[in-house]
Amino acid sequence: MVSRVIPVEVFDLVIFGATGDLATRKILPGLYRRFYGGHMPEEARIIGCARSEMDAAGFRDLARRAIDEFVDAGKHDAAQIAAFLDRLEYVPVDATGTSGWPELKALMRPDVVNAFYFSVAPALFGEIAERLHGHGIAGPDARIVVEKPFGRDLASARALNATLAAHFDEHQIYRIDHYLGKETVQNLMAVRFANILFEPLWNSQYVDHVQITVAETVGVGGRGSYYDKSGAMRDMVQNHMMQLLCLIAMEPPYHYDPDAVRDEKLKVIRALQPMAAGDIVRGQYRGTGGKRALSSYLDDVENPQSRTESYIALKVQIANWRWQGTPFYLRTGKRLRARTSEIAITFKQPPHSIFDEADHDWRENVLVIRLQPNEGMNLKVMIKEPGPGGMRLVQVPLDMSFADALGDEGADIPDAYERLIMDVIRGNQTLFMRGDEVEAAWAWADPVIAGWEARGERPQGYDSGSSGPDDALMLMHRDGRRWREIRG
Ligand code: BG6
Repeated sequence: MVSRVIPVEVFDLVIFGATGDLATRKILPGLYRRFYGGHMPEEARIIGCARSEMDAAGFRDLARRAIDEFVDAGKHDAAQIAAFLDRLEYVPVDATGTSGWPELKALMRPDVVNAFYFSVAPALFGEIAERLHGHGIAGPDARIVVEKPFGRDLASARALNATLAAHFDEHQIYRIDHYLGKETVQNLMAVRFANILFEPLWNSQYVDHVQITVAETVGVGGRGSYYDKSGAMRDMVQNHMMQLLCLIAMEPPYHYDPDAVRDEKLKVIRALQPMAAGDIVRGQYRGTGGKRALSSYLDDVENPQSRTESYIALKVQIANWRWQGTPFYLRTGKRLRARTSEIAITFKQPPHSIFDEADHDWRENVLVIRLQPNEGMNLKVMIKEPGPGGMRLVQVPLDMSFADALGDEGADIPDAYERLIMDVIRGNQTLFMRGDEVEAAWAWADPVIAGWEARGERPQGYDSGSSGPDDALMLMHRDGRRWREIRG
């Protein structure tokens, strides 16, 4: 297959927080992979900025270590790495002070694409934006990239939006939700809108319910102090899962264009019904004893009184013509049985069966879109069981792994960050959240969170390595439905 990657213009990409975790784990390795793939112009430059006193050689060393650790060994090519490192510069900058800014300005080339990645705590966004502006470093075409958490409620998200808007237009602001950069998440749009097959059935007349699962095996690790103030609702649902829900539920945009897509997503968020207490289950993982002992959530966050959830399941309803009566069940959690993210669309049964019911174990059609691992799609259909003995029906999967179907190209799926950073350079905002979208998602999440806080609810304990708390099963059972098994 011929590669049809859209070329990017020459750029200067400045990374604030260049020595931090995100830069070393994701941004620098991602940029290297693009360079290795030949998708980065020769003259492009990456300028690291952070408080640490360091020179370009020190930053190149740091980047080399990041590549060693986080890029597949198959892409370690000494000449390519050296050429990539050559593109790197470093300026020590005090984000809240005056030092470093004139030096940064002197280094920037105003005639190429200028992008600034704020890989720093949100508390610094305003300070950096103001200084970029004040020192005349960011012109009207410059782009800024900001990371989650984008606020912790509607009020803080609004304040952040206002801070950025004081110095940058919306078309310059790229709010990253890395789920939108995942190849299979983008594929949701391709599957829905590039095929005639699914769209006619994509509504409450034919869809019984939708399940969205993002299960992780890891605990909160070293991020306890952040996570305990956040919890699964703020950390995963308000952003990543909301985006998945939108892509499944939205109306067809008139074009694959940033505002057309984001307008449709926004309509979905605004149509979400307020949630009843009984439609929410929150959990917290317990530790395990024995040889391979695992710590509990409470130990991990060092807060024995914590009421923060490491698991959440929700039954969400969308109040519009397309989805009235079709619930969306969402669940996400840490320390679950397997790492898996998938969307399962369960269709209704045919209106009338021409076959003798007694012989068959009737199963509904289910379309499963696997986001990770083993990206692919699986459609469960009923067929005749082969062989003699009359008309017996069985359900079989039509299974497609993208890696099998697409060979090498399907197997070499780019990391979400690579894709998104290149879209910033291309000036394409389709896969970034617009300010009003983020605010609408908080406007929905805030009362849900306020509700359980007012009720003083504690999350239910669940065993590490399980499928989550028992009450989550009930959320489906009482509707006569079942969660799909969490399998890797
Ligand atoms: C992050 C959350 O945004 O997404 C983490 O803060 C979570 O808690 C991570 O582990 C999951 O991302 P992925 O790409 O591993 O599914």
